[in-house]
Amino acid sequence: MNENENRIFTQTSAGTPMGDLMRRYWQPFAGVTQMDNLETKAVRLMGEDLVLYKDLSGNYGLIDRQCAHRRADLSYGFVEKEGLRCNYHGWLFGADGHCIEQPFEETANPASGQKDRIRIKNYRVQAHAGLLWAYMGPEPAPLVPNWEPFTWKNGFVQIVISEVPCNWFQGQENSIDPVHFEWMHDNWGMRLKGKVGETAPKHKKIDFEESDYGIQYKRVREGGDESHPLWIVGRVCLWPNALFTGNHFEFRVPIDDDKMLSVGWFFSRVPKEREPYDQKSIPCWTSPVRDEKTGRWITSHIMNQDFVAWVGQGQVADRTKEHLGVSDRGIVMMRRRFLSDIEVIAKGGDPKAIIRDPKVNECVRLPIAAREELVEGLSIEKIKTLKPGENLSGAGRREFPFLVGQPEEVKLAYLDAMGY
Ligand code: FES
Ligand SMILES: [Fe+2]
Repeated sequence: MNENENRIFTQTSAGTPMGDLMRRYWQPFAGVTQMDNLETKAVRLMGEDLVLYKDLSGNYGLIDRQCAHRRADLSYGFVEKEGLRCNYHGWLFGADGHCIEQPFEETANPASGQKDRIRIKNYRVQAHAGLLWAYMGPEPAPLVPNWEPFTWKNGFVQIVISEVPCNWFQGQENSIDPVHFEWMHDNWGMRLKGKVGETAPKHKKIDFEESDYGIQYKRVREGGDESHPLWIVGRVCLWPNALFTGNHFEFRVPIDDDKMLSVGWFFSRVPKEREPYDQKSIPCWTSPVRDEKTGRWITSHIMNQDFVAWVGQGQVADRTKEHLGVSDRGIVMMRRRFLSDIEVIAKGGDPKAIIRDPKVNECVRLPIAAREELVEGLSIEKIKTLKPGENLSGAGRREFPFLVGQPEEVKLAYLDAMGY
């Protein structure tokens, strides 16, 4: 890869090729429950500073961080029945960016009509599956994808957000990298626990296959064969910026070119005996990436280990210096697909995995290795008999293995839902 190509993949500001492409997709950037006790939240997405608000009618807005009057910070504003009011001189803005009120101007010069000519940057925001999603691209906006797990019942869902200080594309390349699992999570994971000399089953072969909503990766490891669900179905590098493993999503959302938001959405099926389970609200918690005591990255949890790889590649990885091998075939497929989609949108077309048909969006089916266990559920007796290599649904788990710092109340709510 040359420097110019590396820039194409990594730059997402407005007007850049990848920035224009990523703006064609709804991006999850916060949890609905994060706004339970907040009126405003400062948000930075793809290099743009914005403010999210929830007004007194319960409607969301996502508008320019800075007031059109004299540029005060609207994340310190306060909400009204409709819209967000600047705390400096009281101008009020609606979700469509229009200035609704200019208190003193309207008193001093009622005929001016200036407010009708003022409109600030504004984007669509929609709540779905416990997440808040932003759409920053041209109209008409596609639909917020209703991925199959978002329609499942009898599950405990949690959302975990981390700010990872490196470029988003390093995270997304990890979504199509089967071999790292053996090394980063299995072998290094054992070493981190002090186990020396043990090694995990080796990858014997891998394959990649493009489908409607992403590229699946497939693997056969020592002791397994081609009848294994991780070969037949595999896992999905979900378009354009997520990993989907069957029971969880990991979205890699650019904050700017040097930082990303890792947004995880995790589904845990309750045992059959605990049905019906109806989750009242989906908790959202934030997870740190750095150990404040040592200044080093946290390595104790699966996604934290991934973050160590990504930030280690540099804030923006220099891909002119890499040496790709057979293990990286999926990464090459993904990069090529992005380049062709950039051409597609330049010609006015829709890129991969845009959903506009409400019928399709009633439930967008994805490849899922453990669909039956996740949809139908398992009995407590059955869960006890599962061997680790067979347990693709995560049933029976007590600890949350993906990210550090799960709050006690979330852990207790989870254990209670499961009946453990
Ligand atoms: S700067 Fe916002 S109202 Fe004056
Ligand atoms: Fe990983």
